[in-house]
Amino acid sequence: MTIRHFLDIASHSPATLRAILDEAHRLKANGRGRLDLLPGRTLAMLFEQVSTRTRFSFDLAMRELGGDTIIASGGEMQLGRGETLGDTAAVLSRYVDAIMIRMLDHEGLVAFAEEASVPVINGLTRRSHPCQILADIMTIEERLGPIEARTVAWVGDGNNVAATFVEAARRLGFRFKIATPVEYDLAEDVVTAAKADGSKLEVGRDPYWAVKDADVVVTDTWTSMGDVDEDRRRSILTPFRVDDALMAAAAPGAIFLHCLPAHRGDEVTDSVMDGPQSAVFDEAENRVHAQKAVLAWCFRAID
Ligand code: CP
Ligand code: NVA
Repeated sequence: MTIRHFLDIASHSPATLRAILDEAHRLKANGRGRLDLLPGRTLAMLFEQVSTRTRFSFDLAMRELGGDTIIASGGEMQLGRGETLGDTAAVLSRYVDAIMIRMLDHEGLVAFAEEASVPVINGLTRRSHPCQILADIMTIEERLGPIEARTVAWVGDGNNVAATFVEAARRLGFRFKIATPVEYDLAEDVVTAAKADGSKLEVGRDPYWAVKDADVVVTDTWTSMGDVDEDRRRSILTPFRVDDALMAAAAPGAIFLHCLPAHRGDEVTDSVMDGPQSAVFDEAENRVHAQKAVLAWCFRAID
């Protein structure tokens, strides 16, 4: 039987993504009590990079589904002393029932999954953050109804989270407008794949153009994990700050999302983060529900 890895959005069908999202909404409606969906199952969580939300929300999700977790950082494992990813994947597959891993190198994650004989879940790479985008879509649907009818505007760095939104727009058919400076564009292959699919991706440079008619305005840090040019990024990306004036140029009733951690005063002002259009803390909470649904799918508790 094929192992159900969850490494990105693009490799899953619209039907699978819809099933996971529907399960996430259902699990949230059921409340936060303990379910016995995955009794006796253990999830290993490996972090080569720091995390607050991914770490806590996966841990809670697995426990609330009746399972258990083991958490380790790369530096405290033999990985840090040169044991290969492949050997690590093979060994952990003998101990646990699924592995969530955060590592910058996306190809490394794919190679790890190839050697694992249990499901592997992407907890963020330089290229993709699929669990985040499921929580984002869940938040949009809670506030605004089905995602298919919505326009999402991204303003700022064309980073891993932006690229994952593009994949979701390809699969789920919503309109995605993105304004980035030329220096920090989306990766070329991300745009090429979206265009080949005929998806509703629109790429520009002007934040005001991007948010026009948008139901959702999204941004993210200007300096992602692994980026080194923080000062240069700040000076180039400053015109892309999300402030009250930019939010006012979006569609009436538009919401603001940010995967967090936010750098208040850089990519977003306090007044937007804490204002009436902000859904960022629902978005963070929804990581728990969305990841429960991902775990349920990986363990074949849903189709
Ligand atoms: N949004 C997100 O993945 O946050 P963490 O880096 O805290 O996990
Ligand atoms: N783009 C950010 C997201 C953090 C959750 C990063 O990769 O650091």
